[in-house]
Amino acid sequence: MVNDQLTLDFLGFGLGLRTAHFEHVLQHQPLVDWFEVLSENFMVAGGKPKYYLHAIAEQYPLVMHGVSMSIGGTDPLNMDYLKALKKLANEVQPKWISDHLCWTSVHGQNSHDLLPLPYTQDTINHVAARVGQVQDFLGRRILLENVSSYLSYHDSTMDEWDFLNALAEQADCLILLDINNIYVSARNHGFDPLEYLSKINPKRVQQFHLAGHSDYGDYVIDTHDQDVVEPVWQLYQQALQRFGLVSTMIERDGNIPEFPALQQELQQAAMLAAKQFPHLSTRTLDAMALAQGQAV
Ligand SMILES: [Fe+2]
Repeated sequence: MVNDQLTLDFLGFGLGLRTAHFEHVLQHQPLVDWFEVLSENFMVAGGKPKYYLHAIAEQYPLVMHGVSMSIGGTDPLNMDYLKALKKLANEVQPKWISDHLCWTSVHGQNSHDLLPLPYTQDTINHVAARVGQVQDFLGRRILLENVSSYLSYHDSTMDEWDFLNALAEQADCLILLDINNIYVSARNHGFDPLEYLSKINPKRVQQFHLAGHSDYGDYVIDTHDQDVVEPVWQLYQQALQRFGLVSTMIERDGNIPEFPALQQELQQAAMLAAKQFPHLSTRTLDAMALAQGQAV
């Protein structure tokens, strides 16, 4: 529908733009390739957040990530929300717009949770039609992200990876693959995360998310308030092998450290990618080389 090429250009390594870091980013212009902004935080008429957003948008590529589309819900699509999303996109010209493959609201009540869907062909038909409406309205393909989950439905007739692939194909949308969510769900449901990766169609994978979680032994919760753990780094390397260079971003929503600490974690992602792709050149790697030069 929108263009022939499925995935967009590799952006490099990005961070979630958080309020606590607005001033640091503007003042220091850190060597980070791009930022992901939470769309809902900026759906306001003006004010300080908008000031920072516009100033940062002049210096960095941005992508928009939302949590309220409820693309899998049964309420009609919220056109006020979509209009506000489109307006924001016109303002900041994001490279792409993403949300989650889930449902969040019912009867107009927002649960503020990213709730999983039953994996059936009926669900695919339902969601794909809604994605079509959204993409037609926005005039571009959107990315949908796999959510972490803690329950499954008796009604499901297929595995999550088959559901995600089939949905993306039927809806003609792109995939935001959250590597941490795959790990979290694999631990909670007992599937093999490598099987998940091996089954996802590479041609629609536009972005990776990395994040930390809370591990309670018997179960794992996707809290985004910790560093990325070693098994997720390992899974990330497997993902790079399967999907090649994919724009990668670290999500941190709680227990937010100073910006340089997050930048260092992002450099770890870039370093792992550079091991597999030695000619990789990005601002994130430049920052590392610079820091090492200064340390000598
Ligand atoms: Fe994510």
